[in-house]
Amino acid sequence: MSNIIKIYFSPSKTTKKVVEQVARNFDYSSETYDLLNFDESKEFDQDDIVIVGMPIFAGRIPKRGRERLEKLKGNNANAIAITNYGNAHVSDALLELVDLLKENNFYVIAAATTVSHHSIFDGVAVGRPDASDIEKINEFSKKCLEKIKSGESLNAEIPGNRPYVEYKQLPFEISCDETLCAFCYDCVSICPEKAIPDDDPIDTDLDLCSRCTACISICPEDARMFSGDAFEAKKPAFESANSERKEPEFFL
Ligand SMILES: Cc1cc2nc3c(=O)[nH]c(=O)nc-3n(C[C@H](O)[C@H](O)[C@H](O)COP(=O)(O)O)c2cc1C
Ligand code: SF4
Ligand code: SF4
Repeated sequence: MSNIIKIYFSPSKTTKKVVEQVARNFDYSSETYDLLNFDESKEFDQDDIVIVGMPIFAGRIPKRGRERLEKLKGNNANAIAITNYGNAHVSDALLELVDLLKENNFYVIAAATTVSHHSIFDGVAVGRPDASDIEKINEFSKKCLEKIKSGESLNAEIPGNRPYVEYKQLPFEISCDETLCAFCYDCVSICPEKAIPDDDPIDTDLDLCSRCTACISICPEDARMFSGDAFEAKKPAFESANSERKEPEFFL
């Protein structure tokens, strides 16, 4: 009997949404590993069907997500690799994810790049994944199920280069509006980099912060945000350069 294993690192929750949509097409019981919280070693079984979703951060999978995924071993479990991006660039991220899963002994059967609302530049890919994306994700999931039944592995070539592009830290500031903060400390608990001090959620250590957006997404008061001159200067040009719709791509 197969289990569906959902694994994702999803600071703004769109990658989680995509992984869950794929999983809905499989009529098996499921387990979830949310890599924002889960930081342990784990081994899966050959019968498992593992759906792994990572957002794309500057052309790579997030460093912290990668580090946590490295602790999960496949034992030949079937795997579907998904990188989810904000309608700008995929670069080497999907290749990196597929490589990592293979290195960790997952049997990769399919891969995809999906498009979601940009978690930094919120004028890009608004409302995505939308109905058209979901329909394509459902078709892809059905093909994945057929592939698993046939025992075939991933045949398609994944775009990207090795070595992958260098990690890039974005220069934008994250700030907190003290007048809005309700001191619930949710941002402190969720931050995967421990960049928000336990005793002061207004502060952010920008040397530790990866700009992942988890604190912005979780804040019930909308108190945390990108800010500063570099961000304000970049926003209009970035949003206009990436306004043309890109479509998800599927590799079987
Ligand atoms: C630090 C950072 C870097 C990003 N870099 C890219 C990128 O290179 N290309 C792109 O299209 N989107 C990029 N995005 C947008 C995210 O990939 C996109 O919004 C994704 O849906 C976020 O997933 P999540 O909602 O699961 O956090 C970046 C977002 C962040 C926070
Ligand atoms: S402080 Fe930085 S690293 Fe921590 S959750 Fe917020 S954006 Fe992510
Ligand atoms: S999540 Fe928002 S309201 Fe809660 S402590 Fe952090 S900034 Fe304040």
